[in-house]
Amino acid sequence: AQQSKLTDTIMQWQQSQGRHNLPWQQTITPYKVHVSEIMLQQTQVATVIPYFQRWMALFPDLETLAAASEDEVMTLWQGLGYYTRARNLRKAAQYLNEQHQGQYPDDLKALEAIPGVGRYTAGAIRSFAFNSYGPIVDGNVKRLFARLFGIYGEPNKSSVNKEFWQQAERLTPPDNSKAFAQGVLDLGATVCKRHNPLCTECPVQADCFAFEHDCIEHLPSAKKS
Ligand code: ADE
Repeated sequence: AQQSKLTDTIMQWQQSQGRHNLPWQQTITPYKVHVSEIMLQQTQVATVIPYFQRWMALFPDLETLAAASEDEVMTLWQGLGYYTRARNLRKAAQYLNEQHQGQYPDDLKALEAIPGVGRYTAGAIRSFAFNSYGPIVDGNVKRLFARLFGIYGEPNKSSVNKEFWQQAERLTPPDNSKAFAQGVLDLGATVCKRHNPLCTECPVQADCFAFEHDCIEHLPSAKKS
């Protein structure tokens, strides 16, 4: 099937310039992807790394996690915040052991039925662990797409959110989406930064609405407070 040129460019950029040495990218398993993506949801990479390593040392697999007490899990999470994430990870391990023989399902709907797993995390598990079609949209991807495609409006408003997901669904390659998913995250985090983005280093500068119209500082639109 014909893959869009943008998709191709982003995948190639990820391969040459993206991040490849993060702890959850080493000997990938669905469990590692799940835990890391939940930790990364409201927390920066540098903060997550030591927590991820301690987590994997203490709870190396779903079975260990399912058998752990809530106290053990919460103690490890101390300092990361948004504690519902930790509670849901333990519930997810119990759910997967009871409902899926301790295996991660690979389809999006079944993944979204896991406690604490939404559309983003389900897509991330598909892309990173199974290397199959798994569109993802998070804050970094929204910023990138808002600028690239000129998507105005509050990023969390449902009509605007829908546009981001439509772009992700359109651009994500049907299989082998790992490099694309990691590519949009890495581009958003390291090049298409909120302030002073590195447009001269951007592989999609020539296609970028905001660069062309000189409105990078105005996209994405400000959240109403
Ligand atoms: N933020 C969310 N997911 C990430 C990932 N897989 N790598 C780097 N940053 C991320």
